[in-house]
Amino acid sequence: MPVQYERKGEFALITIDNPPVNALSREVRAGLVEAVERYDNDDGAQVGILVCAGRTFIAGADIREFGKPPQEPFLPDVVNRIEACVKPIVAVLHGTTLGGGLEVAMGCHYRIAMGGTKLGLPEVNLGIMPGAGGTQRLPRLVGLEAALDMMTSGRPISADRAKELGLIEVIFTNQEPVEAGLDFARSLVDRSAPTIRTSELNDKLDDPASSAPLLEDWREKLSRKRRGEIAPQKIISALKIAYSEPFEIGLAKERELFSELMESDQRKGLIHAFFSERKVAKIPELKQAGPRPVETVGVIGGGTMGAGIAVAHLLSGLTVIMIERDKDSLERGIANLEGILKGSVARGKISAEQKQTLMDQKFSSSLRYDDLQSADIVIEAAFEDLAVKQDIFRQLNRACKPGCVLATNTSYLDINLIADVTARPEDVIGLHFFSPAHVMKLLEVVVPDKTAPDVVATGFSLAKRLGKVAVRAGVCDGFIGNRILSTYRKCADYMVLDGASPYQVDRAVTEFGLPMGPFAMADLAGLDIGWANRKRLASARAVRERYATFSDKICENGWFGRKTGQGFYIYDEETPSGRPNPAVEHIIDTERSDAGLVTQDFSDAEIMRRYMAAMINEGANVLGAKIAQRPLDVDVTMLYGYGFPRWRGGPMKYADMIGLDRVLHDIRTFETEDAYFWQPSTLLVELVESDRSFESLNDER
Ligand code: 3HC
Repeated sequence: MPVQYERKGEFALITIDNPPVNALSREVRAGLVEAVERYDNDDGAQVGILVCAGRTFIAGADIREFGKPPQEPFLPDVVNRIEACVKPIVAVLHGTTLGGGLEVAMGCHYRIAMGGTKLGLPEVNLGIMPGAGGTQRLPRLVGLEAALDMMTSGRPISADRAKELGLIEVIFTNQEPVEAGLDFARSLVDRSAPTIRTSELNDKLDDPASSAPLLEDWREKLSRKRRGEIAPQKIISALKIAYSEPFEIGLAKERELFSELMESDQRKGLIHAFFSERKVAKIPELKQAGPRPVETVGVIGGGTMGAGIAVAHLLSGLTVIMIERDKDSLERGIANLEGILKGSVARGKISAEQKQTLMDQKFSSSLRYDDLQSADIVIEAAFEDLAVKQDIFRQLNRACKPGCVLATNTSYLDINLIADVTARPEDVIGLHFFSPAHVMKLLEVVVPDKTAPDVVATGFSLAKRLGKVAVRAGVCDGFIGNRILSTYRKCADYMVLDGASPYQVDRAVTEFGLPMGPFAMADLAGLDIGWANRKRLASARAVRERYATFSDKICENGWFGRKTGQGFYIYDEETPSGRPNPAVEHIIDTERSDAGLVTQDFSDAEIMRRYMAAMINEGANVLGAKIAQRPLDVDVTMLYGYGFPRWRGGPMKYADMIGLDRVLHDIRTFETEDAYFWQPSTLLVELVESDRSFESLNDER
C-alpha cells in the first residue's frame, strides 16, 4: 500500500511511500482519498499530517500514465477532497515538491518545509500546465507576478523564497519531516488554528482590470521567449480566469485547457525528451563496469575548444593541466581560458576571488607531456588533422600513467586510427564537446573498437560531473550529430541551388523552432571550418553527388562569417546580428546560371519537408549502421547539440508523430529529382513495411 494511515495520539499521520519520487500514481491517489476520508471521520484525530517517505515529497503526477486513458480518482478531485476536510491537514514538504505534489500541498490547509526543499510547478516544461487546481490556487497564495513566473518558467523556488511569498508557513532545519509535522500540528492545536482553504482566499487577487495589463505583457513576452510553445499561453489564459471568475469556474476552465495540452504533440514531444534524457545514460558498458576515478584532467591545446573544455572542468571542481606545443601558443591558450573565466565572473557564475583561486590552485600549464603524469584523463583538442592527432597520441602513450584515459575531441576523424598508434587502445575514447564547451550540454562519447567498458563508463560519469548529457556514439565520419548535420546541410545547399535563398531557408528553419538556420549557424561556427572539411572529403566524393560551390566561393573571398564581419550575412554596427549579404546572392545566381539550373519557388513548408526528410533519413542510416544505439540517442543529440526544439521531441520522435509512411513517401518523391542524395534508408523502409515506429526500437535495442 503506497499510502499509510496511522494515529499518533491526537494526530493522524498520512504517509505516502511510492519510490523513487512519490509520484501520484492511481494507487497513490486512491490511497490518499481513502486516508483523508478516514481522517475526516476519525473523531480522535484533531490534525492530519501528510508526509512522504524517502528522498522527496510528491514530485508530481505519474508521468508514465500520460497518454493512457485517465483513471479515477482524478487528481483535481483528490486535491478538492483534501481541501474539503473539516479539520486541518498540514503538508510537510521536503526534497522536490513539484507539479501535482505542490498542488496537493496547496490543497492542504497548512504547509511547512524542511530547509533545502525546492517547490515548483514544472508542468510547462512537459508541454502541459498545472491541472489539479494549481493555476487557481497558486495566485491566491503568492500573488500574480510570482505565480506567472513559477508557472511559465517551470523553475522551482527555494523554501526561503516560498516562505517570503506566503506559500509555506515555517521552515524546519534540524528535524525529520514527521517530527517537524508533529511539532507544527501541536502548535495548531494550542492556538485552535482554523482550517484554511486556499480556494477561499481572495486577498491576493487583484481586480481583473489591474491584472489584465500584466497578463498581456507576459503573454507577449512569452511569445518571444518560449516561441512556438502553446503551454505558456494557456497558463496565461487560466490565470486570467482566476482573476475574473469564481474558483469553481477557474477550476473547470483549467481542466479544459489542461486536457487540450495533454492531447497535443508538444506534450508528447516534451515527455519523450524527459524520458529520453534519462534513458540515454543506460548503455551496455555501464552494466559491465564502473568508471575510473578522475580528479586531474590534462587538456592538449588552448584554442577555443581546448580552453572551453579546460574551463568546463575547472568550474566543476576538477584540476586541469593545459599543454601546448610552444610558448606563444601556451600564452594564447591561457589568455583564452582567462577570457572565458572572466565571462563567467561577468555573468555572476563565479566571483572574481573564485576565479583567482581556480587559476592559482586548480590550473597549471606546461610545454612538456611529461608533466601529465598526475592526469587521470587527457583530452586532446588540437588541430583537426589525423597526423597531428596521431603524433600527440604517440606522446601521450609514452608520457601518461597506466590506466589514464586518453580522449580525443575530434569532430569527424576515425578514432580507431588514433587509438592504433598507442600501445593501449583500450584506454582511448572520443569525447566530442560542442562549442562553447563550457556551455553546451551535449557530450558525444565516441567508442572505437577496442575501448574498455570502464573507459566508456568514465566518459559518462565525467559528463555527469560536468553537468552534461552524454550520448554513446560509434565511429564514423561525424559520429551521430555532425554526420546528420552534414546531410541536412547538403539538402539546404541543394534547395538554394534550386531556387530558395539562404535567408528563406534560415527563416523557415527558425519558424519551425530551431534557434538558427543552417546558414546563420555556419556563419557563427566559421565558414572556414566547413570549407576545410569539404576539402578533406573531396577525394571521397562520389561522381554522382551534386556539389554546391557557393560556400567555397564565399570563403575564397576571405569571408568566414561572423568572425570576419561577413559571410552569408553582413555583421556591422548597424546590424550586429547580421543582414543578408547581397554579394552572396550574386555568387549563388552565378553558380545557378553557370550550371544551367532551372530554379523553382519553394514555400517555407516545402523547405521544411525536405530539410526534415533529410535529417530523419540520415538519422535512420545512423541507426541502421549502429552508430547510434536507439532512436532516442539521435533525438537527445539533436536536442542538446543542435538546438532542435525540445517541444518537437527530436527528429525521430517528430518522424513518428508525422508518420513514417509520409516521410518515406516524401523521400521517394524527391528521389525522382536526385536519386543519389535521396536514397531511402533501409531501416526506414523496413519500419514502414512492418508498420512500426522509431519509438518501438527504443525499448528493443
Ligand atoms: N512520474 C514518473 N516517474 C518519474 C517522475 C514522475 N513525475 N519524476 C521522476 N520520475 C522517475 C524518473 O523517470 C527516474 O526513473 P528511472 O530511475 O527509471 O530512470 C526516477 O524517477 C528518478 O528521477 P531522476 O533520475 O530525474 O532523479 P533526480 O533525483 O535527478 O530528479 C526530480 C528528481 C527532480 C523529481 C526529477 O525526476 C523531475 O524533475 N521529475 C519530474 C517532475 C515533474 O515534472 N513534475 C510534474 C509532473 S506533471 C504534473 O504533476 C501534472 C499535474 O499538474 C496534474
